[in-house]
Amino acid sequence: MSSPLKDRDILVLGIESSCDETSAAVTCNTTILSNVIANQKVHQEYGGVVPELASRAHLQNIVPVTHAALSKAGVGLHQLHALAYTRGPGLAGALMVGSAFARSLSLALGIPVIEINHLQAHILAHFIRQPGKETTTPRFPFLCLTVSGGHTQLIRVNDKLQFNLMGSTIDDAAGEAFDKCASMLGLGYPGGPLIDKYAATGNAHRFIFPRARTAGLNFSYSGLKTSVLYFLRDAKKKNENFIHENLNDLCASVQQSIIHPLIEKLERASAETGITEIAIAGGVSANSGLRKALQITAQQRGWNVFLPDLEFCTDNAAMIAVNGYFKYLHSQFGEIGNPPLARWRI
Ligand code: KG4
Ligand code: ZN
Repeated sequence: MSSPLKDRDILVLGIESSCDETSAAVTCNTTILSNVIANQKVHQEYGGVVPELASRAHLQNIVPVTHAALSKAGVGLHQLHALAYTRGPGLAGALMVGSAFARSLSLALGIPVIEINHLQAHILAHFIRQPGKETTTPRFPFLCLTVSGGHTQLIRVNDKLQFNLMGSTIDDAAGEAFDKCASMLGLGYPGGPLIDKYAATGNAHRFIFPRARTAGLNFSYSGLKTSVLYFLRDAKKKNENFIHENLNDLCASVQQSIIHPLIEKLERASAETGITEIAIAGGVSANSGLRKALQITAQQRGWNVFLPDLEFCTDNAAMIAVNGYFKYLHSQFGEIGNPPLARWRI
């Protein structure tokens, strides 16, 4: 480590294994010293995450990834103050690996184990500091739109560990909509980044797909998925090369249909609460169309927007470790016998 540790510095090892990324990170207070992520390529040929294969890959990855995170940080196991791990929500078998690993290690080292809610951690990614880099963090209360493969949520963040759920999807998550539409377009998995890539040079107004009208601050994407499915089926009957010939415009139009309700509900939530500090989090917050749309809206509405660095949009253990640090400060420690939670509300 470049700077010597001070007495009150807290070193946390974070472990993330809720889906298809095995990650370990070491933080000193809110500063990351390392953040190692092993992506699982094994799912690509199946077009989606295969839970059992994810668990097996986590088993193979977790020790080397943790070793790499510690050695990159220059921190020994016995210097750690606490171990933070994703207790849920996520795939049961995948969570089991990280949870068993973290709980055993904390027992062996005699240090506290801290249970982290993955969705809270995505939001707290905004508080990660990187050595030598200036970071501006949102002021409380702020609104956060969490858009990932499994969740789409609008949250009022009152403090670092205080969250109010204001709205969420009633069916598919935004990331799921990206991935399912990508699969219909014959693109690989995960499809979100591929749609993002092709959309960059496409015309978003070329194809109009219906947008769900959901009550309040909720979202719905199942109608979009069905309409893209039938639209492509009919278009391919007339021209079997339809997708190939129109890929960029199709991607841009699908992306626009996913993003539009996100911005719309954020505007509504901001108007209702009077809060103009706005953040996004989760894998879909890496989407360039969403980031651009948010910046444009911010200029129009006078919002202060916070976009996570791309490294911290998708699943990573740095956000788990930083969340762990905040819980450590409040002595919010877990129980060694607690099982993982596949479902766990924010
Ligand atoms: O947060 P995350 O890594 O995992 C979950 O907690 O679910 O999010 C993964 C999701 C996937 O659906 C993936 O397609 C989507 O984030 N994603 C994107 C982009 N990068 C990742 N979607 C759209 N555009 C992107 N650039
Ligand atoms: Zn996630």
